[in-house]
Amino acid sequence: MTRFLFVSDLDNTLVGDDRALEQLNRRLGDSVSAHGSKIVYITGRSLALYQQLAAEKKLLAPDALVTAVGTEIYYATSDGVPDPAWSERLPQGWDREQVVAVAAQFSDLVPQPDMEQAPFKVSYFLTGDAAPAVLPYLNASLRERALATQLIYSNDKDLDILPERGNKGLAMQFLRHRWGFDATQTVACGDSGNDIALFGAGDERGIIVGNARPELLQWYETNSSDCLYLARSHYAEGILEGLHHFGFLGTNDGP
Ligand code: GLC
Ligand code: MG
Repeated sequence: MTRFLFVSDLDNTLVGDDRALEQLNRRLGDSVSAHGSKIVYITGRSLALYQQLAAEKKLLAPDALVTAVGTEIYYATSDGVPDPAWSERLPQGWDREQVVAVAAQFSDLVPQPDMEQAPFKVSYFLTGDAAPAVLPYLNASLRERALATQLIYSNDKDLDILPERGNKGLAMQFLRHRWGFDATQTVACGDSGNDIALFGAGDERGIIVGNARPELLQWYETNSSDCLYLARSHYAEGILEGLHHFGFLGTNDGP
């Protein structure tokens, strides 16, 4: 057992099975106090929607909370202001107004509620039926205007347009460097399309929970590696399974 950086998505990854979450929390809490491990939650939600979830579920207090699909980083001391050292990296090639104007030309894109829009995240609903036709054209239109963006499609309905320099994986690496964790001492957990950036970032370890969505499983089919573990169990139990697999919690006392 060693010190490690635990990075996890929330909806349908950490959260989904309350009993397993309690079990995982105990093991993580032990690792934090015995070894100085650190906990990061990394979610598509806004800060306000995270706070709703935190009021409903028993979550350990994280060392950092990353919201808006990797574009905002908060610490306990942040007082509602995202880490400027991260935010200042994101504007390069990003023009929010132009992104919105380009997207407005696509009638299949339905804006998500204002609460889920952010300075570096423009979000829409887009049906799974329409997505294959829309996404390549939208991408081409953004490129034509030299907008440095990335399209992230999750859950057969959520489209996030982000700056090229911000996503969940890049935010994870920013925190890992800041706190001096090696890639081999870092593990990320997820279930859906917006977590692909976590698994494709570099040599960090990755746990794909057993209930992962088809878009992530499809990506895994062509990107499997020794750094990635596809769990049989779902939600927090799948995370425990993966942490044992990588030896972060010891290997002999199964989940
Ligand atoms: C969360 C966010 C939403 C985003 C989705 C996928 O549900 O609230 O804005 O599109 O995650 O990243
Ligand atoms: Mg999720």
